[in-house]
Amino acid sequence: MVKEKILSLLKKKNKEYVSGESLAKKLGISRTAVWKNIKALKKEGYKVAAKPRVGYRLIGKPDLLSTLEIKDGLKTRIFGCKVFCFKELSSTQEVAKKLAAQGCAEGTVVVAEKQTKGRGRIGREWVSPMGGVWLSIVLRPEIPPQHSQRITLVTGVAVAKTIRKLYGLDAKIKWPNDVLVNGYKVCGILVEASGEADRINYMVVGVGVNLNVDFAKVNPSLVGIAASISQILGKKVSRVEFIREFLVEMEKLYILFSRSKFNQILVEWKNLSETLGCKVKVISQKEAFVGKALDVDEDGFLLVRVEDGTVRKIVAGDVSIRRE
Ligand code: BTN
Repeated sequence: MVKEKILSLLKKKNKEYVSGESLAKKLGISRTAVWKNIKALKKEGYKVAAKPRVGYRLIGKPDLLSTLEIKDGLKTRIFGCKVFCFKELSSTQEVAKKLAAQGCAEGTVVVAEKQTKGRGRIGREWVSPMGGVWLSIVLRPEIPPQHSQRITLVTGVAVAKTIRKLYGLDAKIKWPNDVLVNGYKVCGILVEASGEADRINYMVVGVGVNLNVDFAKVNPSLVGIAASISQILGKKVSRVEFIREFLVEMEKLYILFSRSKFNQILVEWKNLSETLGCKVKVISQKEAFVGKALDVDEDGFLLVRVEDGTVRKIVAGDVSIRRE
């Protein structure tokens, strides 16, 4: 796209002026077309100074999540091939599912500045104000439905690695899908699949990261349970940078996963686990019990030894770590 190319040329010049003529020449378009594209960039929130007979200069980027910003310099092949950004959505899951059902490409990403009906696991509400990263990715893995839990674990590893790499924080994973820092939940993952008994048609991986969210303001009831990266670091961080880095990590792991190397990812998951070895309380639809989290099996299910010594396989449910 011409607009993307102009933006990247302006960015390369690092706030120096670039003449309209040189842009036109480089891109093989007229100067009027350059001007029209600059106008379009301004509409998206970019601040571009224009000086007659000198040219254009990029002086400011929008703080909004835009396709242009996310895709600029994104080093992936599949993830983010298409990025749809919205100012407000009910839930990115719903839009991603619609796109998936319409046959969109694997790796399509839906991002929202905020969600009005963000969804968590087990039908819970997911508070999604401005400042967080709320995104869904469409996947089309060639796996039997019983392996879908593996994707949750893959995603947890990708998020934890991204947080570790970008901010140097000790991110851990609580089975099956919470990413914690210092014991506080900073990210939740919701994986939904559509398919038949023996094959998956598509999966939608929803990731919610409390990046720059102030819980004391938006939801005081979550203070002490959830925290945001900005609260932990004491400064705001770039959502675009997080999304790009996460897509890179996720793609790397997904490619490994597609090559039947889930076992390698499981080793990483276990190294990042906050749950294994701990006393846990499991609450499922039918019952609640306490035990010791022993391991995660190759399907991604949690193995818990209960008081009578038997080992139970936890497929779904809520697991809390008991720290006494
Ligand atoms: C959980 O821990 O309960 C899972 C939370 C998942 C939240 C994300 S935010 C992006 C995507 N859209 C949603 O409505 N939910 C997921």
